[in-house]
Amino acid sequence: MLEVKGINVYYDAIHVIRDMSIEVQNGEIVTLIGANGAGKSTTLKTVSGLLRSRTGEITFMNERIDNMPPHKIQRKGLAHVPEGRRIFMQMTVKENLEMGAYSRPGEADEALDTVYARFPRLKERRKQIAGTLSGGEQQMLAMGRGLMSRPKLMMLDEPSMGLAPVLVEQIFEIITGLRDEGVTILLVEQNASMALQIANRAYVLETGVVAFSGPSGELSQSDEIRKAYLGG
Ligand SMILES: Nc1ncnc2c1ncn2[C@@H]1O[C@H](COP(=O)(O)OP(=O)(O)OP(=O)(O)O)[C@@H](O)[C@H]1O
Ligand SMILES: [Mg+2]
Repeated sequence: MLEVKGINVYYDAIHVIRDMSIEVQNGEIVTLIGANGAGKSTTLKTVSGLLRSRTGEITFMNERIDNMPPHKIQRKGLAHVPEGRRIFMQMTVKENLEMGAYSRPGEADEALDTVYARFPRLKERRKQIAGTLSGGEQQMLAMGRGLMSRPKLMMLDEPSMGLAPVLVEQIFEIITGLRDEGVTILLVEQNASMALQIANRAYVLETGVVAFSGPSGELSQSDEIRKAYLGG
């Protein structure tokens, strides 16, 4: 579904992603893990068109997207839920969700119903100002907004960040639920052990380079990965 082949991304002169290649197949959860500053968010931003690679190719559903603007990429069915949620704090829940449908304005009402069915909490609180939602609710809103464009592939950047353990579990359940409903997932996580539990495959990034990759089960068994990323 998604193929990233040989990309190199720079911030001015700083070379942040080096010859990276990753793949996501239809129906998978693939996780991208690695230390702070390894380049995980940069990778997602490059796929969604917010940053450009100097080399290589990015293909989504058999079409090159590496020269497309972000809104076109979103319209093709690729959603990006950024790190830190980035919701509009002064707007209501419903208004935030509607912003997520900007690439498909005619389908907003139908998409809203689908998102409310998945997140009843957001429906209850649809008139509430987003800034007053709890952290977990804000994350649900960010994910709900991403779903408004009816993505085939959803990229989630640290959805569990800052949440209490119970909420982290809820968010991971929501992610597997989405996968079961046919949304393919590319998941960036600090919580590597939980990410490996729900993912089919994983890539481990070390300073902009894919250091390990493989089925999640294999990576969680590896001593090297356990020492470096799973707390021994
Ligand atoms: N706008 C920017 N200008 C310059 N350097 C940047 C910029 N954004 C990120 N970087 C640098 O690029 C590297 C990769 O950053 P990135 O945000 O992709 O890491 P990350 O793996 O997502 O980290 P974290 O787990 O902390 O979110 C870091 O060294 C970071 O300082
Ligand atoms: Mg990041």
